Amino acid sequence: MEVVICKTKEEASALAAKMINEAVKKNPKTVLGLATGSTPVLMYNEMAKAVKAKKVSYKEVKSWNLDEYVGLAPTHDQSYRYFMNENLFKKIDIKLSNTHVLNGLAKNPEKECKAYEAQIKKAGGIDIQVLGIGSDGHIAFNEPGTSLSSRTSVVYLTPSTIKDNARLFFGGDMTKVPTQALSMGVGTICEAKKIIMLAFGKGKADALKGCVEGGMTQFCTASALQAHNDTWIFCDEEAASKLKLKKYYAWRSAVKLGL
Ligand code: F6R
Repeated sequence: MEVVICKTKEEASALAAKMINEAVKKNPKTVLGLATGSTPVLMYNEMAKAVKAKKVSYKEVKSWNLDEYVGLAPTHDQSYRYFMNENLFKKIDIKLSNTHVLNGLAKNPEKECKAYEAQIKKAGGIDIQVLGIGSDGHIAFNEPGTSLSSRTSVVYLTPSTIKDNARLFFGGDMTKVPTQALSMGVGTICEAKKIIMLAFGKGKADALKGCVEGGMTQFCTASALQAHNDTWIFCDEEAASKLKLKKYYAWRSAVKLGL
């Protein structure tokens, strides 16, 4: 795990975007795994800036998103499909037909999840997976107590995630947040060739500590990334504030990135 500690989330987002843009320049057919939530928005803006400046093209890129709420139509303004269209896909030159988000209205959700995994496999697997981290240490919607080898499936949100998501979305109304989602599993995520996780703010400090320096446990599903050999965490100083070896990580990653 490489932990890149930046002064601000703007700086961290720009570095993460650069890593993705460089990879896409090298391999225009890169397969991306994408995340929603407040955390990746700045990075998506940086990716859009690079496309606008014609520094990179996403025309041949394919993407699969991590998760979607059960019961929300893709046109619902709080659905993750809607979020991706507005925050990234409309701003870059990716073909919408090459972007994939689980269908929250699927009549047979288990079948939908299996088909999603098969699509990813057929595309050759995810080259770069983007992740945020929940304040309870979740990745995608893999809440505490989820097997670290879980596959894409129907999952159940914890009250703490419902509260977090209501604060930022659904106009603050907890009763409007769906309680179930379709989510890539921890095992599915860990099959990505490279993983880029973003973590910002002091609200993520405990989760990041668990992810990087805690034991590998299903009570912090992000800790499964400890067994992945190409994971990069881009974070700000607040999120990194509880890490014991933060100075070492900052130095090592700066050397590796040539900063
Ligand atoms: C989103 C996702 C979640 C979020 C996490 C952090 O697709 O899978 O795991 O990354 O809940 O959310 P924010 O970024 O809103 O703090």
